[in-house]
Amino acid sequence: MNNNQIEVMMKFFKRLLGICETPLPADSDAWAVQDGNVRINLSRMNELKNPGSGVRLEGKGLDPRLLVFHGDDGQYHAVANRCTHMGRRIDPIAGGSVIQCCSVSKSTFTYDGRPVGGAAQRPLKTYGISQDQETLTIKLDE
Ligand code: FES
Repeated sequence: MNNNQIEVMMKFFKRLLGICETPLPADSDAWAVQDGNVRINLSRMNELKNPGSGVRLEGKGLDPRLLVFHGDDGQYHAVANRCTHMGRRIDPIAGGSVIQCCSVSKSTFTYDGRPVGGAAQRPLKTYGISQDQETLTIKLDE
């Protein structure tokens, strides 16, 4: 078995187990939940630097967990990080202008949460997001 075949098998097993590609923040103090908003300090959140990148926000009383990503469109986006098929996590697909469930069924959504492929039929919940210099604010009540 060559390296390419091993990589394909590893990707398949990750999908089978529902292991996503998107990391948690390396700096856990780069974000906080305050007054119904999530605030992200972009200068400390290296995971969001490049278009196509993303970060998982989990814990700190956050429900549901969030996927925040820097889209191919250069904008930041936030969605509930639970696939509407069976609840697995979502990854941004760099260069594809879509986000995709990490499971075998690969439900695929537009940046505004509309399902466009795979098993999911219902849209993902999306959140309003704004930027003021190095601070991103995600409104949880929208
Ligand atoms: S959980 Fe996402 S496609 Fe099944």
